[in-house]
Amino acid sequence: MQFSVKTSKPESLSTPCLVIGVFEDKNLPELTEQLDKAGGKIIHKLVTAGDINGKIGEHLLLQKVEGVRAQRLLLIGCGKSSELDAKKYCSILTHTWKALQKYTLTEVTLALPTLAVKDIGIERKAELLARLFVTNEYHYSATLSKKSKHFQLKEACLLLTEGRERSAANKGLEIGAAIGKGMNTARELGNLPANICTPTYLGKQALELATKNKLLSAKVLTEAQMKRLGMHSLLSVGNGSHQSSAFIIMQYKGAAASEKPQVLVGKGITFDSGGISLKPGAGMDEMKFDMCGAASVLGVMTALCELKPKMNVVGVIASAENMPSGSSTKPGDVITSMSKQTIEVLNTDAEGRLVLCDALTYIERFKPKTVVDIATLTGACIVALGSVASGLMSNDDKLADTLYKCGLDSLDPVWRLPIWDEYQELLKSNFADIANIGGPKAGTITAACFLSRFAKQYKWAHLDIAGTAWLQGAQKGATGRPVPLLMEYLLRH
Ligand code: BES
Ligand code: MN
Ligand code: ZN
Repeated sequence: MQFSVKTSKPESLSTPCLVIGVFEDKNLPELTEQLDKAGGKIIHKLVTAGDINGKIGEHLLLQKVEGVRAQRLLLIGCGKSSELDAKKYCSILTHTWKALQKYTLTEVTLALPTLAVKDIGIERKAELLARLFVTNEYHYSATLSKKSKHFQLKEACLLLTEGRERSAANKGLEIGAAIGKGMNTARELGNLPANICTPTYLGKQALELATKNKLLSAKVLTEAQMKRLGMHSLLSVGNGSHQSSAFIIMQYKGAAASEKPQVLVGKGITFDSGGISLKPGAGMDEMKFDMCGAASVLGVMTALCELKPKMNVVGVIASAENMPSGSSTKPGDVITSMSKQTIEVLNTDAEGRLVLCDALTYIERFKPKTVVDIATLTGACIVALGSVASGLMSNDDKLADTLYKCGLDSLDPVWRLPIWDEYQELLKSNFADIANIGGPKAGTITAACFLSRFAKQYKWAHLDIAGTAWLQGAQKGATGRPVPLLMEYLLRH
């Protein structure tokens, strides 16, 4: 898909299709009004006649309007002008995409970003448009025997009235397209079945991305190397699996080596059967998505390689397959983490924290500016926050506030939960320094409390994406979250 920006009078623009907004209250958006004057007030007549009411979700396609150069006009319902916010703007764009698909209109000019949207400017409006259009293009086909053809938009041009908004619009388009691409990368990896997307496969993806991009380097540690580093906690998770575990390190270097990096750590359990603490059968297939944290790290790295911002970012993935077998870790086993803290594994299904804790110790060597880990960590997080917000826990109030704000701005929200000392009590063990579960209460918080024991050397935040990383039911599939949030954080803070 090609994005561009144009400034022109709407009536004199030559395009196969011009997309313009119509409000539910009778006044038209400025640009629509301007066009309507040149077009003999046809839109006013249609609105008065009730052919289009302007509700979000409505559209009307007009062919060859007298006095207007565009071959077609696609009128899009934009709701009440006073209520138009970023979320509604996105839903307008989604409906626009559907209408374009319905009429197979592949080359369009869109005036929608000129709409006044509460709290956001042209750069964000362009970013959201590009992100939505790029992610709409994604279709899973890797393991389908018949590849069906899907609608593809060839050209999307933004029509602006103000020439001075051009550069901001172009910048937004570039950022949004990169985020969209990163989300699609994350979705594809999430959607791939666990018999293809193994820890080794994730490692290969990182190495491949690095060969294609000068600013990125990648390495994958073998199990032998992890053993030498003392990553026995990570290794204990893969003990029961025939798949080798992998520890993946990606370094994006867009700034001087002296500049401290932001560090991202992703949970990469390519299948979580629960291990000896086996999960129930219903819905177990969805545990192929238990590497969506890792996928979001690869998604962010992909987006960074597109945008080439001047900053340093380290992306680390702790990957293993959690399976039951004669060589699996058993409830009651005690292991020694890389940090030398001993862990009693009371439940082998609380494996995410076991791979993450060694990664959190390993990354101390990078002297991180901040660390964010991303993990499909607890079912309890779905109970608490559903599929709307990801869980946020942090040892630093400022970092937590920043991420909260980034979540709102990128429409990829997070909500903070506390990790107070009172909760730490629940992780006491009689046989090790710490237990890997904290009992039935506050499961999302005790998981984060566990991680916090390994994240004392730096400012750290934990994102529990168990409820937001994929959709269930008929729409089953990875969402690409929280790539938008992470990109917002990296690029704007
Ligand atoms: N990957 C799961 C968490 C999960 C479950 C995410 C369902 C999305 C949907 C994680 O490894 C896990 O099994 N957590 C346990 C922790 C418990 C044993 C303390 C859970 O949430 O039940
Ligand atoms: Mn588990
Ligand atoms: Zn898991």
